[in-house]
This record gives sequence, structure tokens and C-alpha cells, in this order.
Amino acid sequence: MNIRAAVLRDHSLCMPIERVAVDEPRSDEVLVRIVATGICHTDIKVAQTQGLSPRPIVLGHEGSGVVEKIGTNVRKLAEGDHVVLTFDSCGRCPTCLGGKPSYCYEVQAVCFGGKRLDGTTSLACGNAAVHGNFFGQSSFATHALANERNAVKVRKDAPLELLGPLGCGLQTGAGAVLNSLRVGAGASIAVFGAGAVGLSAVMAARIAGASKIFAVDVVDERLALAKELGATHAIDGRRQDALAEILSATGRGVDFSLDTTAVDAVIKQAVDCTGPLGTCGLIANKSPAQNAQVNILGSMLRGRTIRGIVQGDSVPDIFIPRLVDFFMAGKYPFDRLVKFYPFDEIDNAMRDAEAGAAIKPILRM
Ligand SMILES: NC(=O)c1ccc[n+]([C@@H]2O[C@H](COP(=O)([O-])OP(=O)(O)OC[C@H]3O[C@@H](n4cnc5c(N)ncnc54)[C@H](O)[C@@H]3O)[C@@H](O)[C@H]2O)c1
Ligand SMILES: [Zn+2]
Ligand SMILES: [Zn+2]
Repeated sequence: MNIRAAVLRDHSLCMPIERVAVDEPRSDEVLVRIVATGICHTDIKVAQTQGLSPRPIVLGHEGSGVVEKIGTNVRKLAEGDHVVLTFDSCGRCPTCLGGKPSYCYEVQAVCFGGKRLDGTTSLACGNAAVHGNFFGQSSFATHALANERNAVKVRKDAPLELLGPLGCGLQTGAGAVLNSLRVGAGASIAVFGAGAVGLSAVMAARIAGASKIFAVDVVDERLALAKELGATHAIDGRRQDALAEILSATGRGVDFSLDTTAVDAVIKQAVDCTGPLGTCGLIANKSPAQNAQVNILGSMLRGRTIRGIVQGDSVPDIFIPRLVDFFMAGKYPFDRLVKFYPFDEIDNAMRDAEAGAAIKPILRM
């Protein structure tokens, strides 16, 4: 079947829309007509960096759409179902079997390899193979071939064109709070970076009943939005000393913190602002080689935990429908972060995402 897809052939943000052929779904796959897809900073990073994924490739990993065809062994989904596409995982390794698929042993191959696990590609331009299967979807296209595992059925009364970002950025921030850190009622949390991931964490912290929610950023509008979405304190990292502010407002530091900025100095603050038995979650990185320094004595005496977090430890089939319910109940208004673009304006949308002009761009097919 022929589809329209944004094909990246170099290491830029320029991905012209081309006619591409997509395979019929195999027994465990589903063909999804993409209605809309979010743009995540991981798309930008992979587009601009050599060596993370092969070329030519169709990126995009926050797709939402309607199931058009299912493989012969698919039981979870039926034609016509509304789905959010999320990260892929193998389903067979110890972490998948243990209910933590975002730490799948095969994550590099199934999310970044551009091929199915058996090494085949699912897209082609004429006789030449095009890499697809990015995060098990490659959603910068009118149709995507997903695995049954990474297509999550969602309720039909929810606005489908809005839901794609729940598959990555939004699930990551909310899941970090609700699944990874398990922030409880009355707890305190500091979220560094008020982008899509950080603001999702702020909304989730409000849902969890956190008593003090600090949002730290360097952009006025993002700080103002953080307050509207539930932050009790908004700290401007350019003008204020975030660490001193948090320590003075809490006495001994916060129970939890999250870094979504990948800025070395900010990561240090995110660690240092946690109090006794506090946990700092690391969500963002600048490059595979990035390292950070922590104060050993301070971490030891406080019994601190520093941990990495991928996709908010989500089991997507459980967590994404839960986030949709929160949205429909008015408790998780992530539509406030979104700016829509027509698919044909993907170049503008990518540039706006990179420049921070849109918090969560969504391409409408
Ligand atoms: N671990 C995961 O599973 C996962 C999933 C999705 C995204 N990510 C990563 O999470 C990161 C955040 O994603 P996003 O979509 O929210 O990006 P974003 O760029 O919208 O958010 C980052 C925020 O940090 C702020 N910031 C920059 N420098 C700062 C400083 N010195 N002090 C305070 N704030 C500062 C920016 O103004 C921005 O609002 C990205 O690196 C992305 O690749 C990780
Ligand atoms: Zn992402
Ligand atoms: Zn696995």
C-alpha cells in the first residue's frame, strides 16, 4: 500500500514528504491510519545526531489513529479501534516479563534500529528500503505499521487527534510521578524544566495530592503555565537560586525531584535539593557521553536515591487509558500544552519544537 511519509535522508530537521510503500501487517502487526502525531525532543535528537538511527528513516513516535487492518494472530485489537502508539518492546526479556517494558533488553533494536527484530524493513521507496519501525511505529506518515504490543486501545469519546503525545513525552512525565517515584499525598516534589515532560509531571503531582510542587524553568510563559497547572512554586532559574529557594521553602529539601533539562548545573541542583531519603529521577540527557558529579557525603548522609527513568516505568496498556480518563475528567488538561500543525508543515513544527516556540507540537494528518 502507498502512503505519504516524511523521509529523513541526512542529519537535519528537513524531512520532505514522499510516497512510500508500506508492508501488509504480519501476523502480530496492525496497520494504523494515523490521525495525528506529536513531535518529541527525541525525534529532534535522532534527526540531528549521527549514529543513533540509520538513514533513510521515517521518524515519529507519538502517533494516534484508527486500526485499519490486523494481522492473523492479533487478539487485543480490532479494525476500527482508536489507538495511541507507544514505545515498542520485545515482550520476552526479563524486564518485559517483569512488567517494566521501557527497560526492555532489546530497546535499542526495537525503538531505534529502523527494522523489525528479525532485521527486515517495512517501508520502501521504489526498490530502495526505507527504515521504519521507529519506536515500533514511524508515525510521521499517513499510516503506520505497529506491533500489537505497542498499540494501545483508547476510549472513542476522547479526542483522538490530541492523544498521540500520551505515547511518549506525557506518559514519561506523569509516569515518573505516579509509577516510578510513587509520589504520595502530602509529599513535596521539584520538577526542573517545564516543557511537555515537566508540565505533565506537575499535573500528575497535583493528581497525586503533593503538597508542595516546585517548577523550575527559564521561560516566563512556561513558569506561568506551570502555576496554572498545579505548581505551588514557580522558580525562574535565571534570576533565582533554585536550590536555595527550595531549601528555604521546605526546611530540609523535597521528597522527590525530576530533571528534564539535561543541563549539568541543573542536574546537580535536582540532586542537591532532595532531603532525607529523597529520590531524584533523571529523565533527560544531552549525549551518550554526558556525566554528572554528585556530592557523596550529602547523598550518603541523606540516604538519597538517584535513578534513571524511561517512559515513566509505564505499562502502556494500563497507564495510557488511565491518563485519558484523567484528561476526560478535567484533571489532566494536557491540551494546554499543544499546538497543531498540518502534516505538510512538518518543517515549521520541527523548528518550533527545537526553538521552544511550541511546547508540544502535533501534526494533523
Ligand atoms: N526518559 C524518557 O523516557 C524520555 C521520554 C521523552 C522525552 N525525554 C527527554 O526529556 C527531555 C524533556 O523533554 P520536553 O519535551 O519536556 O523538552 P522541553 O525542551 O520542552 O523541556 C525542557 C525545559 O527545560 C527548560 N530549561 C532549559 N534550560 C534550563 C535551565 N538552565 N534551568 C531550568 N530550566 C531549563 C526549557 O526552558 C524547557 O522548558 C528531552 O531531553 C527529551 O528528549 C525523555
Ligand atoms: Zn519521545
Ligand atoms: Zn523486552
